[in-house]
Order: sequence, then structure tokens, then C-alpha cells
Amino acid sequence: MTIGVLTAGGDCPGLNAAIRGVVGRATADGTQVLGIESGWQGLMAGKIRPITRDDVRGILPLGGTILGTSRTDPYVQGDGYPSIAPAIEMWGIETLIVIGGDGSLRSASQLEREGPVNIIGIPKTIDNDVGDTDYTLGFHTAVQIVVDALDRLTTTAESHNRVMVVEVMGRTTGWIAAAAGIAGGAEAILVPEAEIDYADLADRVVKRHKAGHAYSMVVVAEGAPGPSGDTATRGEDAFGFEMLGGVGDQVASNLSEQTGFETRVMTLGYLQRGGTPTAFDRLLGTRFGVKAAELAIEGRSGLMVALKGRDIVAVDMEQACSEIRDLGQDLVRTASWFVV
Ligand code: F6P
Repeated sequence: MTIGVLTAGGDCPGLNAAIRGVVGRATADGTQVLGIESGWQGLMAGKIRPITRDDVRGILPLGGTILGTSRTDPYVQGDGYPSIAPAIEMWGIETLIVIGGDGSLRSASQLEREGPVNIIGIPKTIDNDVGDTDYTLGFHTAVQIVVDALDRLTTTAESHNRVMVVEVMGRTTGWIAAAAGIAGGAEAILVPEAEIDYADLADRVVKRHKAGHAYSMVVVAEGAPGPSGDTATRGEDAFGFEMLGGVGDQVASNLSEQTGFETRVMTLGYLQRGGTPTAFDRLLGTRFGVKAAELAIEGRSGLMVALKGRDIVAVDMEQACSEIRDLGQDLVRTASWFVV
């Protein structure tokens, strides 16, 4: 049996653990694993190489992906199944394991319906916005990176009596902002899923300062609407995706105008996706990879591995990525008790 594995979309910590999980489980059964380079782009271009158990030794602590990734989509840059068919046929790939976010998994579902190849998905993204799984791979590490940054930024904000605005990633959802903001003790957390009243925010910061707390930490998700009510964007990337970013600057100048307090901005950006994965993501990646390989060996298809409670289960892939999973109101409510 031959399995192909690829990582698609934005990278995140934990991808190598998932690749290693696939290879470890599959090769133990004598199944051949082919590594596809640079996501869908490599599959369309036939950039494929066998990977053995030896190739994945020592990669658990490594961030990024040993296979490389890209934002190429077989339905945007190609014509769907026909654009991957030559490589699938030439290499005899029976099952494709796609480690991707919601966009890559949606394309995977479509390809699975269109062509004869079996496809199994592994949900990964720091944004945690894929449905039907408690967590996506990479989210836990991104949150830890933001919390470490908030701890450091708090000491400098406090020393200077400043308002510190920290912009974090998350695309259209506030999962990273809410989880890291709560764990890092932010005074205010601005997310797309909850209404933001900027005049009220400024009043609360002023009250807090009058009460003797001379600094404030404000975490804003890149997809949260700014004071003008619009989402801040930086145009489109080479693949036609809207690039979010810049709301932190808008929030900082609005707060500084309204309060007169010295305000600074920190945009954490790609730091949130880099470096070594946490133990949680290494474990999750390994469990996802092993389960995906087992489903492939059983000849199953159209499924995504998922974490439900303590268990790794298989769910319907098309259903899981049919819509972006917003931040649950539970975290929004938890955050609200500590706001300013
Ligand atoms: O989806 C993951 C993510 O890091 C988002 O949080 C962010 O908006 C986007 O990718 C950035 O994408 P790119 O790597 O293409 O600039």
C-alpha cells in the first residue's frame, strides 16, 4: 500500500510530529509513505519522494514542516482532480493524508468526491477555527508564545506606565486572543466574535489608571473590527488571500487620543507560528498522525481526525470544514470578568 502525505497552507508548530506519526505507524505495517513537497503545489508538479522511518528521526522538536508548504490550491491554481491525477497515478498513491487548515481540507473534500484517491485530513492551524475538533494542531503552541510575550510586555508596560496594545493572529476568529489574553492576564481582549465599544474601552482604561493601576495590556485579534468599524487589511497575497493586520496600530492611536496615555503597539506576527512545538502539540500531532495512518490502512476516506475530549476520533471531513468555527461564547464570558 502507498500513502502520500502533504502539509498545506500556513505552517504551524507540530506539523513534523504529525508527519512522524504517519510515517511511524504506516511503515510499521510495511506501508510505503511518500512525502509531497510544498503542499498541493508539489503534488501538481510531481515533487514527491519516499520517506522512511529514518527520515523522521529527531524531528519532534522542530517547528515548520520538513516537507515545506504553500498556499497553492488545486482549485485556484489548477483545475481540481485532473491537476493532481498524473502524480497520483504515476506514484500509485492510494490514500492522501492532507495536513491542512479549513481551506486545504475543503479542497481535499472536493478532490475526494471528484477523483478515485482516498483522502484523510489532519486539522492544523494556529487559528483553531476548523470545526468538529476540540483543538487544531499548532494552536496550543501559538497561545503559549503569546502568553510568554504578554508576560514580558507586562513588565515593560508597568515600568513605563504605558498602555500596551498587542495584536495577535487568528484570521477571522479570536481564539488566540481570548485564550492567550486570559492566560496572560490582559486587561482587555478584543475579538471579532464580541461587540467592541471603543469609547467604553477608553473610559475603562482611564478608570483603571485613576484607581492606581498605571498600565494596561490590551490584546486585539487581527480580525477584530477597528475603531472605524472596519477590519484592517494589508491587501491580497500572491494567491489572492486577503492579508489581515494593522488593527493594533488603529486601536493604539484611538486609545492614546481618547485617554492621553502613552500607548505602544506590539504586533507578534509570524513569531506565533515559529519554533518548537509544546509537548501538547507534539502529542496531538503524533496521535493525529497515527490515527490518520490507521484510517488509511483500513482503506477509509473522506474523514478528518479530531480530538474529542480525551479521544482521537474520525469525523466527516466535509462537514468539519463546512464553516469556520468561531470562538465559543464561554471564553468570551470568562474573559469579560477580568476586563480592565
Ligand atoms: O491561518 C494561519 C495564519 O497565521 C493566520 O493567523 C494569518 O492571518 C495568516 O495565516 C497569515 O498568512 P500568511 O502566512 O499567508 O501571511
